[in-house]
Amino acid sequence: MNLSQASQQRLELLAQDSGKRVLLPCPMDRRALDFSSNDYLCLAQRGDLVEAGHECAKRYGAGATGSRLLSGNLECFEALEAQVAQFKNAEAALVLSSGYQTNASGLAALLDKSLWGGVEPLVFTDRLNHASLHHACQLAGVKQVRFRHNDMAHLTELLNKHADSTQPRIIVSETVFGMEGDLLPVEQLAEIALQHNAVVYLDEAHATGVWGPQGRGLGALAHPAIDALKTMGHWVIMGTFSKAVGVSGAYIACSEVFKQYLVNRCTGFVYSTAPSPFVVGAVAKALEIIPGLNAERAALQSAAETLRNRVHQLGFDTGLSNTHIVPLVVGSNTACLELKSHLQQTGIRTSAVRPPTVPPNAARVRLALNTGHSQAVFDQLQEALVRWKEAA
Ligand SMILES: Cc1ncc(COP(=O)(O)O)c(C=O)c1O
Repeated sequence: MNLSQASQQRLELLAQDSGKRVLLPCPMDRRALDFSSNDYLCLAQRGDLVEAGHECAKRYGAGATGSRLLSGNLECFEALEAQVAQFKNAEAALVLSSGYQTNASGLAALLDKSLWGGVEPLVFTDRLNHASLHHACQLAGVKQVRFRHNDMAHLTELLNKHADSTQPRIIVSETVFGMEGDLLPVEQLAEIALQHNAVVYLDEAHATGVWGPQGRGLGALAHPAIDALKTMGHWVIMGTFSKAVGVSGAYIACSEVFKQYLVNRCTGFVYSTAPSPFVVGAVAKALEIIPGLNAERAALQSAAETLRNRVHQLGFDTGLSNTHIVPLVVGSNTACLELKSHLQQTGIRTSAVRPPTVPPNAARVRLALNTGHSQAVFDQLQEALVRWKEAA
């Protein structure tokens, strides 16, 4: 069998369970009806961000020309990292080209046993963590101790079970779960981590810009346990610039010494060209704007609450959602694709999220709200959902 035949066979298998993905065009003129975009604060199209990106590119060039450790350490990166550290209320920050890369290589570096004197760490992970966090565990060759989603009692039980172990403990979770749309009880997690002397690694991809004080993420909350973990260097927070920040790339906010460790041992940093200066300029502008958007953040969450109430009345299940991400959990892959296509016919774009991205039989149409959705758009969505229920 040659590669083309093998690929064809694999694609046919995926299609049998409605699991095959295809690329669809995303016309710019249909953005208003788009519930699939992660541009939660509608920053991606803002003229001042685009302008700031251009200005930075004019000054430093279209590309960084190399890894930060070679020719790429332009002063705009140092400035952005100082800005990110301040934004996250952290000692230091490191910027990378994507969130996936940041998790896959940054978390893998944290889990690398050579960091811990050759001892493999015990890694406690939420069962619904993003694929990139799983990838990091695989890359580091560590076994995950998985706790039930957001279940702090289960996490405690598992930590207690390993109480006599001398292995370092690392807890890994998202703060806003991208597919469930629910929030990590971050303060409780910090208290548990402190009690068990664990390092915390949090993914704020969907929280950055939207949650926490002035949109700084939940990791930026002021809390005695969080402050104590920070003092120990046990509070490692990543987030992306690709969602509410409206651009691309990602950061790790941490202690200065752990940053220096990453500069040496995070493969996605060492062996990858630094992000484009355009990205740096646009992200820096977005981080200036975001703290001032409290009213937009409040409106976004209130729109999500209203939408949940409306769709519950229609008999939809929104799972655990209590954020701006509202899944319509339908179960089967087929039902999920049918609902997505029904909404698409009325011009509404959504994401069909199927296993393995979500657990088996929990396929869902994911509605990601943004600050540009008008009342008319929500009405149109509701009408389409009413028609779907009527036809069922
Ligand atoms: C929780 C989470 N972490 C990381 C990523 C990866 O981020 P990026 O798109 O910047 O690579 C995503 C993106 O979907 C995500 O949802």
